[in-house]
Amino acid sequence: MQQSEFSDISRMLTPILARHGGDASRLLQVLREVQDACHTIPSGAIDQIAAHFDVPRVNVEGVAGFYSFLSSQPVGEYQMLFSNNITDQMLGKDELMQYLCNKLWVEQGRVSEDGLVSVGSTSCTGMCDQGPAALINGWPLTNLDQNRLDLISELIRARKPVAEWPPMLFEVVDNIRRSDVLLGEPLAPGAAIGAVLARGAKETLAEMDKANLRGRGGAGFKVASKWSFCHAAIVEEEGGVICDVGGNPERYMVCNADEGEPGTFKDRVLLTSYADLVFEGMTVGARVVGASKGFLYLRGEYRYLLEKLEEVLQKRREAGLLGNNILGQAGFSFDIEIHLGAGAYICGEESALIESLEGKRGRPRNRPPFPVTSGYKGRPTVVDNVETFACAAKIAEKGGAWFGAMGTAQSTGTKLLSVSGDVARPGIYEYPFGVTVRQVLEDSGAEGRSYAVQVSGPSGTTISWKEFERKIAFEDLPTAGALMVFRRKRDLFQAARNFADFFAHESCGFCTPCRVGTELQKKIMGKIASGHGTASDLEELKRLGHILKTMSHCGLGSSAANPVLDILEKFPDMFESKLKAYAFEPAFDLDGALETARTITGRDDEWAHL
Ligand SMILES: Cc1cc2nc3c(=O)[nH]c(=O)nc-3n(C[C@H](O)[C@H](O)[C@H](O)COP(=O)(O)O)c2cc1C
Ligand code: SF4
Repeated sequence: MQQSEFSDISRMLTPILARHGGDASRLLQVLREVQDACHTIPSGAIDQIAAHFDVPRVNVEGVAGFYSFLSSQPVGEYQMLFSNNITDQMLGKDELMQYLCNKLWVEQGRVSEDGLVSVGSTSCTGMCDQGPAALINGWPLTNLDQNRLDLISELIRARKPVAEWPPMLFEVVDNIRRSDVLLGEPLAPGAAIGAVLARGAKETLAEMDKANLRGRGGAGFKVASKWSFCHAAIVEEEGGVICDVGGNPERYMVCNADEGEPGTFKDRVLLTSYADLVFEGMTVGARVVGASKGFLYLRGEYRYLLEKLEEVLQKRREAGLLGNNILGQAGFSFDIEIHLGAGAYICGEESALIESLEGKRGRPRNRPPFPVTSGYKGRPTVVDNVETFACAAKIAEKGGAWFGAMGTAQSTGTKLLSVSGDVARPGIYEYPFGVTVRQVLEDSGAEGRSYAVQVSGPSGTTISWKEFERKIAFEDLPTAGALMVFRRKRDLFQAARNFADFFAHESCGFCTPCRVGTELQKKIMGKIASGHGTASDLEELKRLGHILKTMSHCGLGSSAANPVLDILEKFPDMFESKLKAYAFEPAFDLDGALETARTITGRDDEWAHL
């Protein structure tokens, strides 16, 4: 590296490194800022960052190579990434992306020769209720159409800084269509914390138990159990004595705002308009388990919320709701730090999230030990979903019996649903658990036209119109919150293919069944889509699905075949209509590969009869 290049990089890096200090857990945050500044991670910067954190260069390279928003190759000064969820595709994403490429004279996935612009795709950006959506240098663009793309291409050609683009391009609305106790009844900041201090930490845990609150991130684990395990971890470790001085009493509360499951956007709305409620819930949890530090793990796609969330945190500090001696209670100290992700769906998995919080690649850990006993930096850590914390705040305020009276026996309270796809009114719907899919379809303006619903995103379940009486509840249709609706005549094979591509792209590559299995699944789906599939490919998909489900290391791999297998089972004609008549065709197209040689040598006729 030339001396001048070294100095340029140093000049750019010095303030970034100074701001983040020497703790290597800040590595990902540093790399994010370097990417923003340089539109790449320069090789010279890697050396200097490694020296600063005193870690091997290969560690920094490993992190830089893992996250899709970080790149060792330069991206355009203006990087436009179209959201590639199936709902965006249904709204014309592919055609719009090509339209923009034509306008800007750039190929998809390439950087223009002058380095000005690159156009590509990214996994769902969480704007399915206002798609087609995209990110421009990380900022969300919604409701894209040709008129907006005309304007965007003019702005890019004029090299107008993104910060000066018309605000209407970046408008993100909440689209709350139905509210219940969570969204409809505001909580005064501090009300839930005050109630906990009056009632006591142990007693608040008993209220969570009485409420039977279960995690809203998908798995539905009981919150009271998780919180008490986390609390007990230290009681055991310190020989039965809760240790507040000496030893290491640290426990952590982590709010999982990774929201990477395509079709899910309810956490975005909670963080936009109910951030106080979420932070209040984290503080309630901190009091119960005895944590003094919390993290909000915010997905990179929601980076635009960062400043607003920091403001809410600052106001809470000023109001005595965060910091030392919260609400005047001596010894009750808790604060929250926001950590940004960088485009990796796997970082929603709690142990991968903790790795990412520590500044590493987001690779799921072996379990046990579970995070409640050994999580962030090896300390007991609670990881809960955004909506779970919002519910916890309401329970702390109003009591477990109040919450437990709503919903069904095994699924108490209400659930936020992100509804998108073929509906007249996409957005957020809050219902008591137990609502039927049919009711949601009716309310969102889909009834009569619907054919299938993807419940809980690609990793969830595909249901057909015959199952619309099924209930949203852990005992019937569990969901982290996404309902993507497909009307009649939608090609569900395309939906299955989109989901297969998603899993292949998002597999972290750690274990072979998932790394290879998701790629093979994607390849076979591509083969069928191109008209070369045969009946044996369907058998191969089933065999692969079994391997993925039973042999993967984590939930991503074990659910990666769900949509393909569900759609194949419930809508077999969607696959069969695309197959060739005979039973087998090799994946490698020998005839196609020889075509060019035949044309060049003029031996077409000679070969034709063979
Ligand atoms: C691949 C994968 C992605 C996940 N993504 C999320 C996510 O974005 N948000 C979330 O809350 N939970 C997600 N989870 C579930 C978390 O691992 C964890 O169960 C959850 O955060 C616990 O919170 P809860 O008990 O409040 O639901 C994901 C799990 C897997 C396997
Ligand atoms: S199942 Fe997939 S995502 Fe999970 S650890 Fe294995 S490769 Fe990574």
